[in-house]
Amino acid sequence: MTTQTTSVPLVDLNDGNRMPQLGFGVFQVPAEETAEAVGHALRAGYRSIDTAAAYGNEEGVRDAVQTSGLDRSELFITTKLFNTEHGRDKARKAFEESLSKLGGDYIDLYLIHWPVPSKDLYVETWETLCALREDGRVRSIGVSNFQPDHLERIIDATGVVPTVNQIELHPRLQQPELRRFDAERGIITEAWSPLGKGELLDDPVIEAIASEHGRTPAQVVLRWHIQLGNVVIPKSVTPSRIEENVRLFDFELGEEEMQRLSELDRGERTGPDPDTFVRP
Ligand SMILES: NC(=O)c1ccc[n+]([C@@H]2O[C@H](COP(=O)([O-])OP(=O)(O)OC[C@H]3O[C@@H](n4cnc5c(N)ncnc54)[C@H](OP(=O)(O)O)[C@@H]3O)[C@@H](O)[C@H]2O)c1
Repeated sequence: MTTQTTSVPLVDLNDGNRMPQLGFGVFQVPAEETAEAVGHALRAGYRSIDTAAAYGNEEGVRDAVQTSGLDRSELFITTKLFNTEHGRDKARKAFEESLSKLGGDYIDLYLIHWPVPSKDLYVETWETLCALREDGRVRSIGVSNFQPDHLERIIDATGVVPTVNQIELHPRLQQPELRRFDAERGIITEAWSPLGKGELLDDPVIEAIASEHGRTPAQVVLRWHIQLGNVVIPKSVTPSRIEENVRLFDFELGEEEMQRLSELDRGERTGPDPDTFVRP
């Protein structure tokens, strides 16, 4: 396997930091399999890892990083504060727990996992993330699953614009208004379930474009995201797929192909609605 350390482009965040446009997601990777999967991803050339307190596998990420032989400065680690940890005191404690499980003395990107509007604490939680950044415990802060009204509230309250909004995004849920809203405020849109959990890969349009390029459907979908400017974090525990999903930077989709893919939008979520989701 070739190690490709330089092929993944970096995107500029609004706080002066940069992050890889492609990362490796570990949602639903069992704790005991995480170190192996992340280790394989690092050998395949991924340098960004997306985990969360709620995934229960931050220690597996740490183990893979520690045995990788890579310098911590070469890596970009994201984790997230879960829904039960909103509010100033809980948020500080949750951050410390994640940092201690991940090891090292900083996190690259810390996200509020869901806004949980029914608790009405996400502004206070955002203020806490701002303080953690001021203290140098985290390099960049952002949010996940935030709708425009949630974003507006935290920006109005603190003047601090999140670097990233990580949202469900794939050809069947393209969220053009939310992506535009993010872009207008200098927020990078990061796509979770970028492959629609693998369920849309047999779509005939995607398959046809893949065969025209001699690529796989997953590579076509991920390349579509990349050309839209999204950050992507596909997950796989299958070594050949982990390798396949990083090989996106030596081909390009034409305008007409991008258009055909944009016509697959059905506004169809695979995950929960951010306005109502509290916890699993
Ligand atoms: N912020 C949030 O609320 C949130 C929510 C969900 C996810 N996320 C993040 O986003 C990441 C990705 O989302 P996701 O895991 O839900 O879904 P995904 O990356 O869209 O899809 C993962 C599924 O697709 C399969 N797959 C991966 N590569 C493939 C390929 N090349 N060919 C065929 N099938 C392939 C995987 O199977 P195998 O693993 O069996 O190979 C797995 O079943 C997560 O791991 C997590 O880091 C964030």
